[in-house]
Amino acid sequence: MPLDTIQKLIEADIKAVDALIRCRLDSDVVLVRTIAEYIIGSGGKRLRPVLVLLAAGSGGYRGTAHLELAAVVEFIHTATLLHDDVVDESSLRRGKRTANAEFGNAASVLVGDFLYSRAFQMMVGVGSMRVMEVLADATNAIAEGEVMQLINARNADLDESQYFDVIQRKTARLFEAAARLGAIISGVPPMVEEGMARYGAHLGTAFQLIDDVLDYSGDVAETGKHLGDDLSEGKSTLPLIHVLEHGTQEQATVVRRAIEHGDATDFQKVLDAINSTGALNAVRTRAAGEAALACSAIESLPPSNHKQCLLELASFAVERRY
Ligand code: IPE
Ligand code: IPE
Ligand code: MG
Ligand code: MG
Repeated sequence: MPLDTIQKLIEADIKAVDALIRCRLDSDVVLVRTIAEYIIGSGGKRLRPVLVLLAAGSGGYRGTAHLELAAVVEFIHTATLLHDDVVDESSLRRGKRTANAEFGNAASVLVGDFLYSRAFQMMVGVGSMRVMEVLADATNAIAEGEVMQLINARNADLDESQYFDVIQRKTARLFEAAARLGAIISGVPPMVEEGMARYGAHLGTAFQLIDDVLDYSGDVAETGKHLGDDLSEGKSTLPLIHVLEHGTQEQATVVRRAIEHGDATDFQKVLDAINSTGALNAVRTRAAGEAALACSAIESLPPSNHKQCLLELASFAVERRY
């Protein structure tokens, strides 16, 4: 089931979330609106809102808070993207110039702050302390993950467990929160909520593993992002850690030098080392393992269309090309 089939099944909800997003972007400060609409209007897969909607659906939720929370997680996600592209000095996202390339770093950071704080206003509106706790904790963890990644730029000694710690915070925590929120508002038993949260965490981990694969192998026409952004800034990700651990001395030296001192001109050499050690397939296999864990975390849910979509979403996270 491709992503658009999943989106079709919950099309009405997705449309409602998109309308809500537009409505909540409102500000009398024109530049805020311009930049926020620039990035939100350029698309994106809306995966985190989909996760809220599917988790709420599988819990039998009947109400409208899932729409608001879906918009909240997309706002938080979008804020992290605005900040992340400044930090990563990225110039292409969603097939368009990044907001920092178009409007400058300062404006991007500040509009990111606007989106974070608008998300807080919206979650207060939902009126549940538990919901606020989940979102506050996730947002805080993302910031920690991004800072940990910053500290580890140009660190060729970053090991696998440190790498997983970073991606779990910067990416998996928001997926986990999205899934957990859908469960919370449906009032499912704690065991079911925990299963849904674990599903989200594993899905998010698989998702970031593949993002790191696509940074070396994606097609810009599909990902909408430039290849090699990670290497240019000396970011060590699992494909590189794989070469350092399993490559020849020579291959490891190429990668180590590129992480420590390299720039975009090292991309081909590093890619050769990645390809000849089978690093990308090794990472894909790890992602598939995470996706399998995600699926088993929701095993006990009764069969439903929503559950089927969640299972399919796990496959999408691994097989995706965008
Ligand atoms: C990009 O997330 C940032 C990561 C966590 C890898 P997405 O790939 O979900 O970005 P959009 O929203 O679809 O553009
Ligand atoms: C995404 O990491 C993390 C967050 C946005 C919090 P990346 O830096 O790999 O994401 P992309 O590749 O820029 O989308
Ligand atoms: Mg980035
Ligand atoms: Mg990336």
